[in-house]
Amino acid sequence: MKIQYLGHASLLIETNGKYLVVDPFITGNPLASGKIDADKIPADYILVTHAHQDHILDVERIASNNPGAKLISNFEIVNYFGQRGIAGHPMNHGGSWHFDFGRLTYVNAIHTSSFPDGSYGGQPGGFVLESAGKTVYIAGDTALTEDMKIIPLMAKPDIAILPIGDNFTMGYESAAVAADYLKIDKVIGYHFDTFELIKIEHAKAIETFKKAGKELILPEIGDVFEL
Ligand code: NI
Ligand code: MN
Repeated sequence: MKIQYLGHASLLIETNGKYLVVDPFITGNPLASGKIDADKIPADYILVTHAHQDHILDVERIASNNPGAKLISNFEIVNYFGQRGIAGHPMNHGGSWHFDFGRLTYVNAIHTSSFPDGSYGGQPGGFVLESAGKTVYIAGDTALTEDMKIIPLMAKPDIAILPIGDNFTMGYESAAVAADYLKIDKVIGYHFDTFELIKIEHAKAIETFKKAGKELILPEIGDVFEL
């Protein structure tokens, strides 16, 4: 499995011969410009954690560039994009489904989820992806929550991708506690530095994890991680 960081909370996952794009927000991210071409992103599936603009901005662009790509999200978000002609697979919290790329579970997140036009975007979530013998937890935007303790009881993650930018989500101190809850040692941070309100001090973040006996990876846009 390969995971590429596309900036902010956007990921491109290649596994079992399929491409999964998570929370595409490329054209609105000045940090990604010149590094990621939103029109060259391959997609068999588009996974969306919640309806906020910084997670859905490029859904329609990527769907139209990749005819047949299927949206996977909560019921309300799949319904919203379904009315715009995008095929989807609706899920809800605690539910799993075996797709051709692997098993996916939509899990709890503590956040909000309205669309930019104010319409209801269901309840926000995260994803647990079990594929090619690996398990990845993609938290989405969330606070630290004890709900994370149930994830390793279902499937122990090899790696977790957690928001660390603070203000709108948990910060890196909470993310280090989350790593404990998840029973893992290695975290890829995301949802940081994109906006003024989520800029972090990199050295401090890495040091906080080190003190907790854990490793925090702060990806550069375009970085690829192979599991
Ligand atoms: Ni959000
Ligand atoms: Mn966000």
